[in-house]
Amino acid sequence: MNRGPLIVLVGPMGSGKSTVGELLAERLGVPYRDTDADIVTATGREISDLFIDEGEPHFRELERRAVAAAVAEHTGVLSLGGGAVLDGGTRELLAGLPVAYLSMDVEEAVRRVGLGAARPLLAVNPRRQWRELMEARRHLYTEVARVVVATDERTPEEVAQAVLDAL
Ligand code: S3P
Repeated sequence: MNRGPLIVLVGPMGSGKSTVGELLAERLGVPYRDTDADIVTATGREISDLFIDEGEPHFRELERRAVAAAVAEHTGVLSLGGGAVLDGGTRELLAGLPVAYLSMDVEEAVRRVGLGAARPLLAVNPRRQWRELMEARRHLYTEVARVVVATDERTPEEVAQAVLDAL
């Protein structure tokens, strides 16, 4: 029987979901999966190209399906793209799962991710809007999370340990 993912990581871009997710998977001896990578594999295209060429709504639909498939199939550690929680159906799907929200101060996010990086959301949203976007999503992460782990001033190893301790 599929027990569902062991741990699901949500949080904004740059919060370390991939790095922490890989560390957790290694420590637990389970596979790691990332819905952004699933979308790239399924479409053969980069996320930034999908965003720019097909538009955000199209990407969100691909993401919604990728999350539903991963939640149904994956029994290891799963990281979701930063905007996956925007979809109400996805938030319902996550209810009751061991979801950890890797929280991060918005200013820290701007510093870490930088501007004009390979992230399409930053390319299409000037700095101020991006900051507002991150603030606006905070309650969505909180809504789906079983635990919240602050990542500011912590190494990925420390964050991974905090997730294990909290869940
Ligand atoms: C996005 C986050 C990205 C990726 C896409 C959109 C978002 O994932 O899915 O660029 O809306 O926050 P990461 O959080 O893994 O960078």
